[in-house]
Amino acid sequence: MQITRLSPNDQDDFLRFISSIQQDFLRFKNLGKSHMRRYLEDPGYQLLVSKEDETIAGYIAYRIEAKDKMQFIGVGVGQSHRGTGLASRLFERMLSETRKIRPLTIYGRTWETNQASRRLMEKYGLRKYRTIPCDRINGESSVWFRRLFR
Ligand SMILES: CC(C)(COP(=O)(O)OP(=O)(O)OC[C@H]1O[C@@H](n2cnc3c(N)ncnc32)[C@H](O)[C@@H]1OP(=O)(O)O)[C@@H](O)C(=O)NCCC(=O)NCCS
Repeated sequence: MQITRLSPNDQDDFLRFISSIQQDFLRFKNLGKSHMRRYLEDPGYQLLVSKEDETIAGYIAYRIEAKDKMQFIGVGVGQSHRGTGLASRLFERMLSETRKIRPLTIYGRTWETNQASRRLMEKYGLRKYRTIPCDRINGESSVWFRRLFR
């Protein structure tokens, strides 16, 4: 499994991959522009994909917002690859790409019942600091996590 930055040639593959897992994301009530589209349209997004036999199996996206602040935007792994440590490897790559930026606060969110995503952030030392009540389409709340890397 190889982790690379998404190349312009891979954009169609990425969109196909994203549509295959889109239903696994719990959408927001006030859905503006689909955040999936922003992955390709926002030049500030850093987008890494992992490929197996030239097929995208997972992605992670982040955005450096200030000299000491970075948002972990999202992560997704194809269903057949889940539970194999792929998201952890992607997260570690994101951490290693930003390890020279210090101090750096990394923050990100998920919905409260997303145990896999919560565990992923907690595993790398991010801690819950904020809850946004009932902002998801099914009435669930979002939870924000963060960590200051010194
Ligand atoms: C969240 C997601 C990216 C995790 O991917 P993954 O490759 O299965 O994650 P990993 O195998 O690296 O596991 C990360 C940690 O979460 C734990 N974990 C994985 N799936 C879990 C689950 N269903 N319930 C509880 N813990 C889980 C793992 O055990 C691991 O912790 P550990 O190393 O202490 O054992 C994947 O489930 C996914 O794509 N879900 C749909 C999209 C999504 O929810 N994205 C995040 C939205 S913010």
